[in-house]
Parts: sequence; C-alpha cells; structure tokens
Amino acid sequence: MQHIQSYIEEHKDRFLNELIDLLKIPSVSADSAYKDDVIKTADVIKSSLEKAGCEHVEICETEGFPIVYGEKMIDESLPTVLVYGHYDVQPADPLGLWHSPPYEPVIKKTDIHPEGAIFARGACDDKGQMYMHVKAMEFMTATNQLPCNVKFMIEGEEEVGSVNLSKFVKNNQEKLKNDVILISDTGMIAQDVPSITTGLRGLSYVEVEVTGPNRDLHSGLYGGAVANPINVLTKMIASLHDDNNHITIPGFYDKVEELSEAERAEMAKAPFSLEDYKKAIDIDAVYGEKGYTTNERNSIRPTLDVNGIWGGYTGEGAKTVIASQAFAKISMRLVPHQDWEEITDLFKAHFESIAPAGVTVKVTPHHGGQGYVTPIDSIGYQAASKAYHDTFGVKPIPQRSGGSIPIVALFEKELKSKTILMGFGLDSDAIHSPNEHFGVWNYLKGIETIPLFYKYFTELKEA
Ligand code: BES
Ligand code: MN
Ligand code: MN
Repeated sequence: MQHIQSYIEEHKDRFLNELIDLLKIPSVSADSAYKDDVIKTADVIKSSLEKAGCEHVEICETEGFPIVYGEKMIDESLPTVLVYGHYDVQPADPLGLWHSPPYEPVIKKTDIHPEGAIFARGACDDKGQMYMHVKAMEFMTATNQLPCNVKFMIEGEEEVGSVNLSKFVKNNQEKLKNDVILISDTGMIAQDVPSITTGLRGLSYVEVEVTGPNRDLHSGLYGGAVANPINVLTKMIASLHDDNNHITIPGFYDKVEELSEAERAEMAKAPFSLEDYKKAIDIDAVYGEKGYTTNERNSIRPTLDVNGIWGGYTGEGAKTVIASQAFAKISMRLVPHQDWEEITDLFKAHFESIAPAGVTVKVTPHHGGQGYVTPIDSIGYQAASKAYHDTFGVKPIPQRSGGSIPIVALFEKELKSKTILMGFGLDSDAIHSPNEHFGVWNYLKGIETIPLFYKYFTELKEA
C-alpha cells in the first residue's frame, strides 16, 4: 500500500494524542458509578468513526450500554470486513498499585518498550487496539485506498459478558452481514515474534455461598461443635482438584478436545522460555495439570480458579468468630466442544453434592461463553499472515490463547463467519492489572498492518 509508513510518520503525534484523550474517560462497564463516562465514550467513538470516513454512524441503544455502528459500503460486489472491538474497560483497582493514575495516561519507556508505552487502564484492552482500526480506516479513506466494504461495531459491555451485544447480533443479521470479522483484542508472542490467535477459551463463571448457623458465633463457645462455613468452603474448593491437578467434577472432561501428538508438537515449536516466564511474574516454579506443558495448560486445557473468596472477620486485629456465611467467585476456562451451560450445571450439581451436613450451599451462575478455534487455511488467516509478514518481516505463528472473547463463538453461530484475531499486545502489558500499558511501537505497527489485511483479503477473495 502506498505511503502507509509516511502517513503514520506524519500523523503519529495526533494518533497518540487522540488515543490519550480516549483513555482519559473512565469507561468502566462493571461499576455503575461510571455510567455517564461509558456513555460519553460511545459518543467519542461515534465522532472518531465519522472523522475516519465511516458513513451512517449511529449509537445503537441497548438495555445496557450502547453499541457504536458505522460503515463504508463502496461496492456491493466487493467483500465486507466487519471490525469488532470494545470501548469499555475493567475497573482500575487496586488503585494504590498504579505508578501513575489509571485515567491520566503517560508515556514511559520500559525494557520491552524502548520506544515508550502508554500507561492507562484500557491502553491495550481494548481502547488502544480498537483505535488502531479507526486510524487504519482513516488512512485508507484519506488516501483513497479502501479496497472493500467495512462495517464497524464497537460495544461497551465486553468486560461484563456482552449480553446485550448477543441480542443485537441475533436481531441484526442482515445489517451485520460480512465475509470476515476482524478483531484486535488479543496478544502476540513477542515484539519480534508476531502471532495470530487461532483459539480462545470458553468461560463459566459462578458464585458460591455456604451458610451454616443463623448468626455469627463465638468461636470459643461454638468452635469445634458446628460446621464453620469458611472451613467447609475452603475444603470443598480444595477438593475440586486432585493430586495431579485434574479437576474432579464428574463429566468435566467428557467433551474436551484432545489434541493429537502432531498438533502438540507443532504448538511446542513456538518460542517460549520457562525461565523468562517465571522471572516476569516472580515465581520459583510453575504449577498445573500433570502431563501438560505451561503453554498447553494455559491454552488447550480447561481450568478452575477461585477469583475471590470472603467471609468472617478481615478487619484490624483479631476477632474470635465463626461466620454464618462464606462466599467465593469461581471461573472455569473451557476449551472447544465443552458447552459452558452444561459445565455450569455439572459444577452446580457436584458442588451441592459435596456439601457436608450442617451447611447449605447455593450456586449462582454468572455469565459465560463458548470457546473458539479457527483453521489456518482460511482466506482470512492467509491474508492476516501476509500482512504481518510484510510489516514484521517474518511469518506469524498461529497461537491458541487462554483468554476469552465469548462473542466470537456467537458471531460464527449467528453470522456464519470466521473471526481473525490480529492482536498486537503482549502478555506483559498487564491487561486487567495495575499499570496496564500498550507499546507505542505496537500501536503504530497495528495501524500499519491492518490496511494490508484489507488489501490481501480482498485480493484473495476476488482471485
Ligand atoms: N481482550 C480480553 C480477552 C483476551 C485477552 C483474549 C488476551 C486473549 C488474549 C477480553 O477483554 C477479556 O478480558 N475477556 C474476559 C472474558 C469476559 C467475558 C469478561 C476474560 O478473558 O476474562
Ligand atoms: Mn478485551
Ligand atoms: Mn478484558
């Protein structure tokens, strides 16, 4: 494509400043205190799409936060790319662990990002990655090089389960019709090892509650004689894994896709240093399911993790008490063929069955979603591969990710199209954590690579 590098060079300060302005708005979808900010962010996205050359840009109201839609249809006979992204972000807490305030973006150099990285909540997940597409669109329309039709659909509820987007997709199949869906909301292996995400895990998220006596009790007067809900809950949770770290819920693994030895050998070729992995998060050993490597454990194998646990006295000093109740939030990452609703039912039945006499157990399902895998011989994958090859100088590696974007499986079911996941973030960018950041180099590299995807996809599709 003509002039992409010079266009970026000329406009990069503005590209950065626009993203910085977007990051200043705290669009936290999970916390109602930020409702107005989330809505304001949708308006900013709307005008940015208009400025980038989209037409019919609209704010589509839902029962929750709005979806921003825009399109540029140049010729019905040409292919259509649907871009999806999200403008909502995760809560920033714990605030005390941020080195600079989460909604006051700053650019700082790091070892991995010598050109600087933008530090702010949402810098990588997903405002920065989503905005690369807006700027790539600007380049293609401003220089008259848009090779096909484009539709943008940017939502504000990804971090809370995309429930309203699911309804929107089901009700707007004709409007959203496309030949391929393009998303940048994942990562890549390393700055010099580009990768294309070919798999996402599914998710089942539940909350559990264990209730014992009808009130908190004196732990001396009653201790040892009644079931302590916190003792019971922790014992029940511990029993969900055996000594090999296999999950003990009956039926849990029944539908798990087992990869062939050849596929596992292919996966093992991706560059990976266990020493660097441990060092980056300061641990002296990895931990996980017996018989699988670290990269397998965090991508092709299902998991069960406690995300939060509470109950009893956690204030200053000591209080001698047996709490009446104990709670935990538990997530299960799932792999292809495991159905999240079925897994949720299996969990519920099992968890209730292992409760000892003396307590009652309640399991409340939260959101969830199916996993996803996509082949590497599709036109979309090939186009992405060629685009990365042009801008990184090497062929990208297919990589199955451990994260989840539940809407992707729904896109395939409802819209019958494949999703190409072109991520430009790194695992070390600390998404969902304090000090989230996104490399300036990565941001600009994304803007440079995306237009080439359009070009190659159109060429391959027309061929
Ligand atoms: N962008 C992430 C998912 C992701 C990150 C996938 C990196 C692969 C690599 C997304 O915003 C996210 O956080 N998803 C949630 C699930 C959602 C239902 C809350 C997740 O994976 O925890
Ligand atoms: Mn995301
Ligand atoms: Mn996220």
